[in-house]
Amino acid sequence: MPLIRLDKFISERTEYTRSQIKQLAAKGQISLNGRTEKKTDVKIDPEKDSVSVSGREVSGDRFKYILLNKPQGYVSSTEENDGPSVLQLIPAELRSKGMFPAGRLDKDTTGALLITDDGELAHKMLSPKSHIPKIYIVKLDRPYENKYVDIFKKGIKLADGDTCLPARVRGVENSDKLALIELHEGKYHQVKRMFAAAGNHVQKLMRISLGGLILPEKLGLGESMELLHKDVENLFKQPPEDPFLADFSDFFSAILINN
Ligand code: URA
Repeated sequence: MPLIRLDKFISERTEYTRSQIKQLAAKGQISLNGRTEKKTDVKIDPEKDSVSVSGREVSGDRFKYILLNKPQGYVSSTEENDGPSVLQLIPAELRSKGMFPAGRLDKDTTGALLITDDGELAHKMLSPKSHIPKIYIVKLDRPYENKYVDIFKKGIKLADGDTCLPARVRGVENSDKLALIELHEGKYHQVKRMFAAAGNHVQKLMRISLGGLILPEKLGLGESMELLHKDVENLFKQPPEDPFLADFSDFFSAILINN
């Protein structure tokens, strides 16, 4: 593992800026392997050294976390049974042994997919108890209807009798066939089956957020980026502004319509 500067290590994993880190170090609030460290430009080994800020340990680099903007035609699996695996899209320098997609998007679904080698985090994220919200933008066959709001809020019953947790849905401005839907669980083909149960049909589907992590606009379809520790923590945090009400639908609507 290459050595990196102490201030870089901390700033990539916490909310502190480099100048705040300098101030904290001057006050003796930063420790390296149990000893107060006042120099923020010392080089450390993220795998071996232990760093604390104000008594809180900053965790190292044991695992890799990649956010992929999945294009259509790839399967969310490490195997290639039904098409090429999403892992093929990850550039070699970002890949590590034992990586797998944490969760599934259908072969024809696009958007945010986390790829990691951290089994514990994947388990935490996918556990039915975690209820991490996931927002999708949907292109429907028939116009969006306001009645879906109540139907989905009550927990819609799917064709096989399974009932979904309450979900939020809303139409997208300037488009009668686009909608945003927010789920807190991940049943098989859930969005498609929910709209089918409500009498519509999903033509195209893209996931635009996972918890507090929103697909960055700069990440094109098929592209991936390594996440910093603080981005990974955001998965489990409620963002300050409700992303379901955010006005990013224009950007994602264009991607959904044009791909
Ligand atoms: N719901 C679906 O129907 N498909 C997906 O890929 C994800 C959620």
